[in-house]
Amino acid sequence: MKARIAIDGPAGAGKSTVARAVAKRLNLIYLDTGAMYRAVTLAALRNGTDLHDKKALEALTLSLQLDIRTDEKGNNLVFLNGEDVTAAIRDPLINRHVSLVALYPEVRSIMVQKQRELSRRGGVVMDGRDIGTHVMPDAEYKFFLTASLEERAKRRQAELLAAGKTVSYEQVLEEIAARDKIDTEREHSPLRAARDAVIIDTTEMTIEQVVETIIDKVVLV
Ligand code: DC
Repeated sequence: MKARIAIDGPAGAGKSTVARAVAKRLNLIYLDTGAMYRAVTLAALRNGTDLHDKKALEALTLSLQLDIRTDEKGNNLVFLNGEDVTAAIRDPLINRHVSLVALYPEVRSIMVQKQRELSRRGGVVMDGRDIGTHVMPDAEYKFFLTASLEERAKRRQAELLAAGKTVSYEQVLEEIAARDKIDTEREHSPLRAARDAVIIDTTEMTIEQVVETIIDKVVLV
């Protein structure tokens, strides 16, 4: 089987950019699992679904047609009931609500099932919060990326600005800290490094350095 690579870590640690680059270099399929939780959150907000009503969220999640495709640059494109929502799921409003939606095991198990289907044949790089611990516990390679809260907020703010969204540094820092707290303290599949994950603190590293560190450790079979 072709290698499976799990990349977990908190918001803003550089997971998506690194995972996409690693997949491209090694000719593997990239899956951004956070995008899946974001798409459900977008659908719930649009539908006016009560984010505290787990039964309603479960029914909504089951009813959605969620497709993740890859463009020629290796980016994930996210389609919700046929509509391209790739940009819409990056809105600050989604950032503020996505961790709440990701709390529910009813929602998580539907997402995890889709993620495992995709990993079955191997040859994937998946990034998220619970990939090494829960989605692909038997992945050949596991990495956990961290960075200081301040550095992660700086990166996230730059990302939002590049997408034309003006938000203050303080606002981003607060939002990321709140998300970290919910993601790490939740009961089901909380954010944590798998026991056999390689932990990389990216605070002082460039994206290229992180990518090289990972590639150096991966021996493709
Ligand atoms: O990686 P991201 O910022 O796009 O993730 C958005 C949210 O989705 C994150 O705050 C928690 C949730 N998530 C999760 O619970 N499990 C995953 N595997 C990926 C994301």
